[in-house]
Amino acid sequence: MNRPKISLIGAGNVGATVAQFMALKELGDLYLFDVVDGVPEGKGLDIAEGSPHWGTDSRIVGFTTKDDSVYANLKGSELIVVTAGLARKPGMSRDDLLGKNVEIISGVAKQIKKYAPDAVVIVVTNPADIMAYALQKVSGIKPEKIMGLGGSLDSSRFRTFLAMELNVSVEDVNAFVIGGHGDDMVPFIRYSNVAGIPIEKLLSKEKIDAIVNRTRGGGGEIVNYLKTGSAYFAPGVSITAMAESVIKDKKRVIPSAAYLTGSHAKHYGADNIFIGLPVKIGKDGIEQIYDLDFTPEEMVLWKNTTKSVIENCRKVDEFLAKGH
Ligand code: NAI
Ligand code: 2OP
Repeated sequence: MNRPKISLIGAGNVGATVAQFMALKELGDLYLFDVVDGVPEGKGLDIAEGSPHWGTDSRIVGFTTKDDSVYANLKGSELIVVTAGLARKPGMSRDDLLGKNVEIISGVAKQIKKYAPDAVVIVVTNPADIMAYALQKVSGIKPEKIMGLGGSLDSSRFRTFLAMELNVSVEDVNAFVIGGHGDDMVPFIRYSNVAGIPIEKLLSKEKIDAIVNRTRGGGGEIVNYLKTGSAYFAPGVSITAMAESVIKDKKRVIPSAAYLTGSHAKHYGADNIFIGLPVKIGKDGIEQIYDLDFTPEEMVLWKNTTKSVIENCRKVDEFLAKGH
């Protein structure tokens, strides 16, 4: 059996959870990489040993990245998921992770450039829009082959909270979140509906505002419960949905951080950044970015979310200009 090769750089909470979910779906053979000695080998073997019960023939192997030559095992990857880096603790914003994580992502990007420049890459490490930008600049990979996790997870949270409030199946709630994967993300109310019925017909403004705020703070809510790290189950399944669309060329439309340039940059009033928008995901990565038209109120929210992403991308430019 010739299964697609999928590499996961970072075998911590999110990386290992994604490996389990991908193995369950038999999306491909899974190669786990992590800097901590024995962790990727041990977690890989542990997941593999459950295969008879899960009914999966995906191979799962781990590699400790003792030195850069270990990354030669990335060769032939169709898809790479990057979760390497630090996670939030209570009181930290995603942006507080920028300084340390940009160094880690820069190192990882060099290895992807060397061994798997044709792979599609899903960047998860936070702040994810900014890390997707850094990974693209350092690796030189075609921007449309790189996407950041944000909207897939945030929209899943938004849909879940709407379903809870309305006591309906999550399957009938259509809703998405755009913008940066930060506290000023934009849950898009006007296009949110339950089986086609606009949520504004079903919920008061106060209830919608409360759900929007809970969605924006969704990651922080989990951090406050866990205290030692951040969410990984909902992120894991949100990444797996994006990955499945790449591997099976499903062409699902899932909001993800995409590179803005050309006509899209003009439309959205922001150039040379990665930011969350509804995109079509297939075997070549991001195959289409959808241009949304905003009301004046939505435009205020959009400008606010792009402002912080632009500022942080320019910080990455400064970091890279120092020769990293
Ligand atoms: P974790 O701490 O459990 O795992 C991170 C792993 O990265 C650790 O095992 C660590 O050893 C490894 N690592 C660090 N430096 C490395 C390097 N240079 N090479 C290879 N591996 C390296 O953290 P968790 O919970 O898995 O989260 C990972 C990242 O993903 C964090 O930055 C977190 O904020 C982010 N995240 C982003 C989400 C999003 O929606 N964009 C959702 C969930 C997590
Ligand atoms: C989240 O939203 C940690 O960014 C991650 O849960």
